[in-house]
Amino acid sequence: MKAARIHAYGASSEIKIEDAPLPTLNPDDVLIRVVATSVNPVDWKIRKGYLKAMIPYAMPLTMGWDVSGIVEEIGSAVTMFKPGDAVYSRPDIARNGAYAEFVAVRESELAAKPSTISHVEAASLPLVSITAWEALFTTANLTKGQRVLIHAGAGGVGSIAVQLARAKGAHVTTTASAGKIALVKSLGADEVIDYHAQDFSNAAKDMDVVFDTIGGAVQEKSWGVLKPGGMLVSITDKPSEDRAKAEGKRSGFIFIGPNAAILKDLGQMVDLGQVRPLIAAEYGLNDTAKAQDLSETGRATGKIVIYVGHP
Ligand SMILES: NC(=O)c1ccc[n+]([C@@H]2O[C@H](COP(=O)([O-])OP(=O)(O)OC[C@H]3O[C@@H](n4cnc5c(N)ncnc54)[C@H](OP(=O)(O)O)[C@@H]3O)[C@@H](O)[C@H]2O)c1
Repeated sequence: MKAARIHAYGASSEIKIEDAPLPTLNPDDVLIRVVATSVNPVDWKIRKGYLKAMIPYAMPLTMGWDVSGIVEEIGSAVTMFKPGDAVYSRPDIARNGAYAEFVAVRESELAAKPSTISHVEAASLPLVSITAWEALFTTANLTKGQRVLIHAGAGGVGSIAVQLARAKGAHVTTTASAGKIALVKSLGADEVIDYHAQDFSNAAKDMDVVFDTIGGAVQEKSWGVLKPGGMLVSITDKPSEDRAKAEGKRSGFIFIGPNAAILKDLGQMVDLGQVRPLIAAEYGLNDTAKAQDLSETGRATGKIVIYVGHP
């Protein structure tokens, strides 16, 4: 099969489009014919070797831990899916990913693809949606009527977080560049802070929850916009527990894994029109390096998708 792989950590020029063996299936695996995959910052962070202490990857490595496609074959213990089913997933990042014509994924990591959207749109959703859901609901327990500040509402994670928080009935404030304000309002933001024109820490206050998708100085300043007892939840840098205690506030940090239950619930929201994918750009498998380069700019509006093949 055709795959975009690396043989060594390094720049995007390490990505080679080449023939690779078909994945071999464990009993609980499903072989998916990939229609589309998408790029997340973790892909190029792994390519650069930033996660090698955490996950000892064998080379060559196929990246791409989002997939939408069709079940081609099932392992001997699989009971929930059959060949021909349309599925989507955020598979285990310790295994080879979906920048390829086929990927093997545990059936426990799969959900039925939402029926009202294309495979390209479905491939944009799993990783960022599990992240936003676990941060806002599982960790921060965001509820109706609460006030939330979501950093980078036009980003991959932020664009879904804004929609999920809005659907929950929260009051949503987000940060974005001037040219993206109308877009994030259309996703459901009540208030938008142009973070280039204004320091968000002067413009936002009394938040029950801040969702930090940026880290560094943005995280530091975020403490000041929380109300007493409010929660700072991050997916970038682990917030200081000492600082949280000193401020009388709470903190959380998550690094997500596969979660088919969330994908099932999310699929229903998508099919009800409560969440819509936001696609920044679409590339072919041959242009995987270009797709990662765009992600690495940190300026994409929504998700960068790689179209692999026909359903
Ligand atoms: N821990 C986990 O499990 C987990 C899961 C998913 C993602 N992450 C991490 O979370 C981060 C965000 O991921 P992502 O996929 O959302 O990234 P992304 O799609 O690349 O984010 C790009 C967006 O960020 C905006 N942005 C950049 N700097 C900003 C700032 N200072 N304030 C407000 N907006 C800003 C950009 O808008 P402008 O062009 O307007 O600046 C752009 O729209 C990455 O570091 C990723 O690795 C972690």
